[in-house]
Amino acid sequence: MSRREQFLALRAKTPLVLPSILPCDFGNLEREVGKLEDAGIEGLHLDVMDGCFVPNLTFGTPIVASLRRLTGLLLDVHLMIREPQRYLDDFHAAGADCLTVHIEAVDEPREVLGQIRRLGVASGIALNPATPLETLEGCLDLCDLVLVMSVPAGFGGQVFQEVALEKLRILHDVAGQDVLLEVDGGVNDSTIQRCVRAGARLLVAGSAVFSGNSYRASIEQLTRLAVV
Ligand code: DX5
Ligand code: ZN
Repeated sequence: MSRREQFLALRAKTPLVLPSILPCDFGNLEREVGKLEDAGIEGLHLDVMDGCFVPNLTFGTPIVASLRRLTGLLLDVHLMIREPQRYLDDFHAAGADCLTVHIEAVDEPREVLGQIRRLGVASGIALNPATPLETLEGCLDLCDLVLVMSVPAGFGGQVFQEVALEKLRILHDVAGQDVLLEVDGGVNDSTIQRCVRAGARLLVAGSAVFSGNSYRASIEQLTRLAVV
């Protein structure tokens, strides 16, 4: 099975919580990943920021490659970077299973999505809360995943924006069964059910997983709430 097929096989297990590792202890990645694996997750959401497309810097391919060596979990890579097409080969080589680029960051979304698919990984497009859904017209057929941002890309710990729910509902109706819908930002015990009811199948959670005492307890609670 290609990485793309493996990632898309997640669909059968949805709704699924994917932890964003941004708040984790990067000095103890192995231990952190072990704790998340013990909590029974299927994949990790990796937030790559370049300090240019978004006003924050996180990590790049070396961390993705380190994670690849540490775990067999699926790696869902969210690229919040300008000119993502220049780095797709590198993230593929580092071990990504799904590569998501922002619609606001690409001039030729069809080309970039095609490039991702040719690498044999799942192709995703993300859009910020302020970006209209119409911007995705003309490229949905090349998307394995649409990532609906419920906060402006750039930082964890922001407040969930309801506009994401309306976008999810519309996408659920128009995008077809083949497109996985993912939501990211401010997903927690109070917002997760509405996301699932609106059509989200992959639920990214950072603060809600890492702020509690036990990752397992937080993930189990979120997962319970997600099965509506
Ligand atoms: C924001 C990132 C998110 C975020 C999630 O730019 O894409 O993945 O870190 O964190 P919480 O769940 O804290 O909003
Ligand atoms: Zn993200």
